[in-house]
This record gives sequence, C-alpha cells and structure tokens, in this order.
Amino acid sequence: MNYWIGIWLFFSIATNGFTQKTIRDESLVPPYKLPELLTTNSGKTINAGRDWEKTRRAELLKLFSENVYGKTPDKKIPLRFVVTRVDSSALGGKAIRKEITVFFGKNSGRSMEMLLYFPRSVKGPVPLFLGLNFAGNQVVHADPGISITKRWVRDGKAPAVVDHHATEASRGSQAGDWAVEDILARGFGLATIFCGDLQPDRADSFDESVHTLYYKKGQTKPEPDEWGAIGAWAWGLSRAMDYLETDTNVNARQVAVIGHSRLGKAALWAGAQDARFAMVVSNNSGEGGAALTRRKFGETIAIITNAFPHWFCGNYKNFANRENDLPIDFHGLIALIAPRPVYVASASEDWWADPKGEYLSAYHASPVYALYDYQGLTSPEPPGPDQPIGADKIGYHMRKGGHTMTRFDWAQYLNFAEKAFEKP
Ligand code: GCU
Repeated sequence: MNYWIGIWLFFSIATNGFTQKTIRDESLVPPYKLPELLTTNSGKTINAGRDWEKTRRAELLKLFSENVYGKTPDKKIPLRFVVTRVDSSALGGKAIRKEITVFFGKNSGRSMEMLLYFPRSVKGPVPLFLGLNFAGNQVVHADPGISITKRWVRDGKAPAVVDHHATEASRGSQAGDWAVEDILARGFGLATIFCGDLQPDRADSFDESVHTLYYKKGQTKPEPDEWGAIGAWAWGLSRAMDYLETDTNVNARQVAVIGHSRLGKAALWAGAQDARFAMVVSNNSGEGGAALTRRKFGETIAIITNAFPHWFCGNYKNFANRENDLPIDFHGLIALIAPRPVYVASASEDWWADPKGEYLSAYHASPVYALYDYQGLTSPEPPGPDQPIGADKIGYHMRKGGHTMTRFDWAQYLNFAEKAFEKP
C-alpha cells in the first residue's frame, strides 16, 4: 500500500470518520462521559437552584448558542398583530378559530401567520399548546376556513403540494399529528405557525428568512456562531408568545411549547431560551434535540450537519466525529428547561432518533430538577413501549410505532399538562 494512503487510512480509522457506520445496535454504542451539569466552567459545584440560575444556566445557554444552534439576536423588533379572520363557531360549533398576522418590524416584508383554536365551551383564558407545523397551517385540520399558506413548502407530493406550493388538497394532510378535537375537548387551546414563515427549510434560504431583520450591512448569511434555522424557528415561537400574552382567550402562564422531530428540536431550544414557556414537549426530536449525541446511535452530528447544514450554526459541524469534544451534551438542553415541566417522547421504531438517548437526556437532567426538590426520572433504563412515566416535572414515554405524533402521544401530553398546570 502506498505510504500516504496508509497514513490517511490510519487517521480515518483513528478518528472514526471515514469509516464511521451508522449505529443501530446498542452493543456498538461507544463508552462516553457526559459533561457535568452541576460543575461550572471554573470548577465550582452547584447545589442550589439559585446558583444554577445565576451561573451555570447562563454558561450552558452560551455553550449551546455558540456551538450548536447559534446566537439568537436579542434586539427587540417592533411587532404588529393583525387579526385577519375569526369564526366563533368553527369545527361544527366546538371551537373559536382565529387567524393573526404578526408583522416583524416596520416595512420589513417579514411576517408570520398564526392559527388559533379555542374550545368554545370554556369561558375565560385557557391553557394552550403552541407548535410549529411543517407545511402550512391548513395541514393541521381539514377545516375549510383555514387560510392556505402561499409560501414555499419543502416536502409533499401532488395533488397536495405542487411545485413546492400547497393546494386545497393539502387541507388536513397532517391532521393525524395534531388531535385538534382531543385538545379542545380537554379544555386547551392550540396555536400553530408554519415554520417556513420564519425560514424556509432549505440550505439557501437565509435571505428569505427572519435572519435578514438582523443582518449587518452587506451580510448574506449567518456567521459561524450565529443562529441557523432552528434558531429562527425558536425565535418565531417566542414572537408567538409575545402575541399570546396579549390575547385574553389565553392563559399566558400556561403555554406549552411542542414540536415533532426537527420542530421538536426548535421547541426545546425555544423552551430553553424563553422561560415564559411554562412547559416543553419534545416529540421524537432526536439528534440536535433530546438525544445524547455522544452515543452516536442513529443520526450523528456528521450526518445531520451534512444533510441539513442550515439548521445549526456553522460551528456545530466542527464536532462531526468529535462528539466528545463538544463542551455540552443534550441533557444540558433538557436541564435548561428546569424547573419547568418537560416531556420527552420517543417511538419504538424510530431508531434514527435514538429513543434510548432521548430518554437518557431526560434522566441525566434530573439532578438539576433535584436542586428544586423535584423528582426527575429515577431509572437509567427506559420504560417499555406505551408505558408513560414521570409523575413529577419530567415525563417520558416510548410509543409503539414509528416517527410521527399520534393521538396516543397527545393524550399523554394532555395528562401531563393538566397535572403540571393543576387544572381542576
Ligand atoms: C430527518 C432528520 C432528523 C429530523 C427529521 C424530521 O430524518 O435526519 O434529524 O428530526 O428529518 O424532522 O422529520
């Protein structure tokens, strides 16, 4: 063998790069050591909630910002809320439906469309789930009164999506993920926004996103430590919260932010940064979401930053095949939500998202909840399928089945939220 090829092969194997195979067998998970949550950068041990909030929480937020999702600009942009449509007897009289346009800045040309449902039978402000959707608000229910998005849609086939644009046929096409009637029947409201309003889910879409609101002169894409699409989506969830705080139908102290898969990553990041979210739900969020990345099970940093470079900040890809050098792991993301309630859900066939790694993040975040005298998850082994656990502030289940969000999932989230919000 040529000498240089030999050297190259040696280093490839040594760094586990070129030769890295996708792991889907638990016995192949490499040994790893998680970064300590309760030790500060300067080596101090945290043993009280107050110190956690004062020092360590801020350190972790900074580490996630600089290395994973990118920094979210904190300058406030003026917002304008315009109610565009209200139907006080939607869904056969069960719901009030509202549509709101949120305009960002003065004449920026950037805005997002919110769809809201409230249970008609409940008087007064209601608790609410807020989540982004994948392909326009009209996909969450077949309700003919929902406006169809005019924006670019990533996935979907004709007749529902033609040339990346949604048609009438897309109404209710992802209704299975949303359980609108179940949510309303339990006395909760629902608010949703198309993620593409904030940033189209494409690698070359920064110029069509809310990033432009913050561009410095001449800037065309984020710097390596500046926000990516997940950051933009999470920012949009916080702007939605700005609106919800003004809506008298909503109990703004009881807003749960929720998301599935890539949008579950965004929900976690939104909940980590914005403490106004009273509860956070991650449904099958996987790599870059709830899953521990050091396990390298299923999707890895190398795979995700190659397939979806725009989701994260540029720095994240520097940790491809170098997971152990990342100064944080994703139990830190769950811990950033403490002491607020958090629910992590996996699916038994969703190996790509590493169900066990999702569980372990929640488990290893438990010591931070313990600072507040809350019990987290107590066993290092996940429960079997369809056995929801976690009566206190951390909930978890692994649903039987594949990568999606179902009525079963929603039933658990509603049970957990009812307890967390102490609804009578
Ligand atoms: C891909 C991607 C995941 C992501 C998922 C989704 O499978 O690899 O990281 O969570 O898409 O958003 O459905």
